[in-house]
Parts: sequence; C-alpha cells; structure tokens
Amino acid sequence: MSIAYFQKEKVFKIDTEHTSYIIGLTDKPAYVGHVYYGARVEDHDLSYLLRTSEMPFVPSQNNRDKLLFMDTYPMEYPVHGTGDFRGDALKVRTEGGHEVLDLHFVSYEILNEKPKLKGLPATFGKEAQTLKILLEDKICGVQAELCYSVFADSDALMRSVRIINKSKTPVWLERVLSASFDMDDTGFDLVTLHGAWARERHISRNPVNYGFQGLSSYRGESSHQHHPFLALAEKCADQTKGEVYGVHFVYSGNFCGSVYKNQFDQLRVTMGIGEENFCWKLEAGEDFQAPEVVLTYSAEGLGGMSRIYHDLYRQHLIRSPYLKKKRPILINNWEATYFDFDEKKLLAIAKEASKCGIEMLVMDDGWFGSRNDDTTALGDWFVNEKKIRGGLKKLVDAVNAEGMKFGIWFEPEMISPDSDLYRAHPDWAIAVPGRTAVKGRDQYVLDLSRKEIRDYVFERVSAILDSANIEYVKWDMNRQLTDLGSYDLPADRQGELSHRYVLGVYELQERLIRRYPKLLLENCSGGGARFDPGMLYYSPQIWCSDDTDAIERLMIQEGTALIYPLSTMGAHVSDCPNHAVGRVTPFETRGYVALAGTFGYELDVTRIPAADRAMIPKQVEMYHKYHNLVADGDYYRIASYSENHIYDCYMTVKKDKSEALLTYIQVMAQPQVHTKKIRLQGLDPEKRYKIKRFNIETGKEEPYSIKQALSGDTLMRAGILIDKTWGDFKGMLLHIVEV
Ligand code: GLA
Repeated sequence: MSIAYFQKEKVFKIDTEHTSYIIGLTDKPAYVGHVYYGARVEDHDLSYLLRTSEMPFVPSQNNRDKLLFMDTYPMEYPVHGTGDFRGDALKVRTEGGHEVLDLHFVSYEILNEKPKLKGLPATFGKEAQTLKILLEDKICGVQAELCYSVFADSDALMRSVRIINKSKTPVWLERVLSASFDMDDTGFDLVTLHGAWARERHISRNPVNYGFQGLSSYRGESSHQHHPFLALAEKCADQTKGEVYGVHFVYSGNFCGSVYKNQFDQLRVTMGIGEENFCWKLEAGEDFQAPEVVLTYSAEGLGGMSRIYHDLYRQHLIRSPYLKKKRPILINNWEATYFDFDEKKLLAIAKEASKCGIEMLVMDDGWFGSRNDDTTALGDWFVNEKKIRGGLKKLVDAVNAEGMKFGIWFEPEMISPDSDLYRAHPDWAIAVPGRTAVKGRDQYVLDLSRKEIRDYVFERVSAILDSANIEYVKWDMNRQLTDLGSYDLPADRQGELSHRYVLGVYELQERLIRRYPKLLLENCSGGGARFDPGMLYYSPQIWCSDDTDAIERLMIQEGTALIYPLSTMGAHVSDCPNHAVGRVTPFETRGYVALAGTFGYELDVTRIPAADRAMIPKQVEMYHKYHNLVADGDYYRIASYSENHIYDCYMTVKKDKSEALLTYIQVMAQPQVHTKKIRLQGLDPEKRYKIKRFNIETGKEEPYSIKQALSGDTLMRAGILIDKTWGDFKGMLLHIVEV
C-alpha cells in the first residue's frame, strides 16, 4: 500500500499490492482528471494517456474547444452545468436558483489512517492510508473533498466525498454521488444483481451499450429489486480469469449507479445517492458527508473480485464479536407457527430442538401488543401476556433451562395504523399532512429522522431486552417508503427525509450494539431487501430471503456470495412443501444449502417427519465440523445452476490451503449423460490431498470413489469425477484434506 504525490508531474498514485489508481492535474485552471485504474504499474507519470487527439489537453484559456474539453476530459469528480454531459456526480442549486459548477484543485493531504465518516457505516482498520483532494468552485463557494483510502492487506479502494459550503448563503445539494471514474470501453459486460421479494440478488450480465445503463432504488432502502453494486467484466472474464471492476455502495437507502458510454467509446462509472427523493440544504459553513463506495479491480475474474470483497468485509467492515465466534444454531418459529403460537408451543419447540443439538430459539413476529396477524400493533412493543402467559422472563428462563439461548424479533421502524402508538401519535408516521399515506403490509413507516421517535423506539426495544436473558435480535423492516413527508422538517428540508431516515436507522443500531455489545444482531427486510454493506457494519448476518427453498436459494446465495462472505447470509432449513414455491426437496439437501450461510432451522421440529427430525443431529455435526471452513475460507464458484440449469457447485478453501469443502447439488437428474467432471479451484498446486465424502446418515466422513491422494495441481487441472447420483435435488459434500 502506498499513496504518493509527484509534484513535477502533478500526479497522485495510489497503490495496493496488485492495483494502481492514478489521478492527474491539468495546468491552470487545475482540473482533476482520472488517468488510470487497473493492474499495478510501476510508472507514475501516465498523464500522457490524457493527451488523446480528440481532446485538447490543457484548456488554459476559454478557447474555441473548451466545451469539447469539458465533455471529453475524464473528470475525477464530474459536476453539473459546465459541459460535461456524461452523467455528473455533483449538482448544487444556489440561492439564485442556478445549478452550474466548475471545480478546480485547491490542495491535498495524505494521512496514515482512515478517518471515520460521521454518522455513517464505513470500512475501518489500523494499517491504512488516505488521500484527500480538495476542489473548489470559487464563484459559489462550494468545495468537494474527495477521499481515497486503502488498507495494507486489501486490494480494495474506498472512496467518499464531503461537500462543504464555504459561501455566506445556503445551497441545496441535488445530487451527491460518492464515486465516479472514467475508462475506455475495451469490451465490457455490465454485471448487476436484480430481484424481487423471495427472489433476491439474481445475477444479470449484459454488454455495455451506448448511453446510460444503470440501476437504482428510490424505495428508501437498498431493495429487493436492485442492489447498490455493479461490476464491469471483460467479455472473456469468468470465475477465474479476465479483468473485473467492482463498485459497491456502503449504504442502505436510495442509490443510483450507472455506466455511460459516450461517442468515443469511453465509459463513465458512477455510484451514490441519486437525485430522486434527495435535496439537502447546506447552510453557510455546513458540510455534507456522502457515504463510502468500495472499488475493486481483479485480474482473476469474478471469483477474484468476490474474494477481495469477502476479505475486506470480514476484516474491515463487520464489527460484531460474532464475526470470529461460532454462531449458535437457531430455530425460528416464523414458518413453524406464523402468528399462531403461545408460550407452550414455543417451549415444546425449544425442548425438542434442544434434544437435536439446536442452540437457540428465536421468537418471531406476533409476541407483542394485540398482534395476531400482520394488520396491527407495530409500535406497541409490550409483551402480549395473553399469548406469552407468565411473561417474557418466565418463557426465556424456561427456554434457557432447556439449554437453549433465546432470541426475539422486532420491527422497530414501523407503526401500524391500528396500534396504540398510532392512536397517540398519528404524526409519527411518514406522511404528507392532509393526505392518507399508502399502506404497505397494513403499516406505515416511523419518521426516524426525529430524535424523540428514535428515543421511543430505543427505550421500548431496550426495555424488552433488559427484561430477560435475550441474546439475539432479528431487526426487520417490512415495507418501503412512500408519501415522503415529515411533520417535523421545514418545507425546504423535506427532501432530506429519505437520507435522514437512513441516518436514523444507523444511529439506532449503533446505540443498540453499544448498549448490548454481546448481542447477536441479524438484520432483515421482508427477506433480503436491505442486505447491504451499510447494515453489515452493525450486524454480522442478514436474513437473505424469505424463500427458504433449497433450489431457489442456490441462485439467491450465488448472487449474494458474489460480493458477501458466506458467514453473512442468513440461511435456514425449512419444512416441505416449501412455503414460497411448494417444492419438495430432500431434508439433507436443505441442510447442505443452508450450510453455505449462517445455518439454522425454520420449522416446527415437533411436527416434521420423524426421519427428518432424526437427521437434525447429523446436520448439527456437519455444521460444527465444517462451519469454520465455510465462514472464514476463500470462496470459489465452480459451476452455476442459474447458468447451466442442471447443477450447482462451489468450494470454500482454508486460507492456508490445507483443506477445502466442496458442495455439489444435482438439481436435475439426467439420463445418459457423460459423468460430470469438476475442476477444483483455490488449492495449493504442490500440496497433495485426499477426498472424503460426508455421509449424512452417519454424520461421518467416508472414502470417496477416488481413493488415491492427488496433487492440488491435478485436482485443479485434470479435475475429479462426480459420483453418479440418482434423483433430482440431491447434494453431496466433499472434504478435501491435505495429506
Ligand atoms: C418478514 C421476515 C420474515 C418474518 C416476517 C414476520 O417477512 O423476512 O422472516 O420475520 O417478516 O412478519
């Protein structure tokens, strides 16, 4: 890692072990240009790359070609209104109503640390360096501080921006993106994640075309539909080779990411909080901190990119002590009982689960207020003693007496119109005065931009947590934001509500984990609608999807694992026919698929078939045997069911390459086909390995059909044959161990 400024050449160079990022300055006026991002290069003075024939290099005067310069120069932080038509990162309205900016270099600073971003989640770490470049528009007094950080042990590059109003009058920020960089289109595909409720984060890959291509969410959360991530992958890039650039936003609210291809086949990539539902008033002297974007460059294809993100998030984003601790195997009563439970039913589940080796009972929705379905009581965070007779402490003590921990569900950001809270404070819901707000799942969203509302929520959640030995919280958020209106904000600040809401969520979660440092927090949003790096800063795991079907999960978990470590993906074994799709899959396969995440159960263990129940202790053994390898290992995707429609295969490899776990799921059995040959990845070519197969019936490993030890080289080049398996939806775990 190193960051340097070369004064003579007016060049900044940021190096990680395998990447370089180069920024250049023009002569007066000093525009800040993006020179290069990619594989590490030794030279620093690459500014000759900016002297293309179509672009007049130094616009020393406002000459005939200044506009051509503005529209072709690869601006490091493009702004609105002065001729850059390729998608700008910053748009500011002045008191006079104008939206024109022209930013020039003022100064820079290199720090041997990575400063925190006020009020926002961000990566952190000791061995870090940061470059700050200050730009200014002298006419309207707006400054932009561009921030670039790197860590000694990562190839990722973190960017963020702070906007400062140096003028004497307010300005309104209409768009503040966190990162932008330009590059030539040498033939890239755009890789994004799209989805829906119960079908989150499916991978999409399409050629980059002329004009704008982008993705966004204006739903107040990162959303089921799109993900604040995009990658540019060379046409030839696959899991093991080819250049891939990744862009990921550390934020949980509205966003927009885009790629623009211009008439010269140049690409501009941007990411940040978009224009829609955003307008921030910046008083004289105030500043605005835009959230962080994590850029990655991999010359080892998409797999290389995934591993950079996984390591970065495990080492520099997730703070929970549970990151390094084995998480308790939980059983959640949602799909088991929905709202139809009482303390007896929960205790019966806990008793049976404990016998099977499950370690924690989680009581989901329906324990509070008058809530017996999803139409009431959100906000009334008082235990319903008609259901939980004897009170919460009695139940928790009884569950603890069974040797089980206890966890609880909240949806703290919401308010039901049919709730005591709403009857007392109708103005606490996000709504426009005089209008009936649109209901979603029969509920409204609390205006968390207001401190007194956050205080109420925190007081109620902590009163419940203090009342019994509660060791886990599932924090849910089940509807998107509409009817944007706050009863508290002045007219010219209503546009701040969406961002202030997200800051309010962050503040609440920060308070929660500070007050309960040992608490295991799992975020959730109607399944996986707020699965993003912002939330990972507070919780080490996030519920991946309300679809627990093993086969649907293959695609959801593949897309999620493209960026996120497996240890973050909430994944449970549930009952069949599956509640989302009605599919029936073998119990063992459901276990293999859930093993690629946090691993837990979501079923009524007192009512499932005896054979399934008998398998749980074996699955528990499987989890304890392999969990560390899954949670801490390097992830390699071997084959994708979403691409081949037949089978799925992935591996995790221990960092020292002494062992690996391969999961193979045969989704569709086929007659008369050549035996599948799999080339392993990530092993040490020089080490020798033996392959064992995990037998779920015995909970033990047994020899695989390939008995001899083979070198990593052979396993990765020649590969192995997959033993024939009979039937659809069948799975297999192979443990590859150094000998
Ligand atoms: C959301 C969650 C589910 C469950 C329900 C309860 O849909 O994703 O897991 O907690 O809410 O209402």
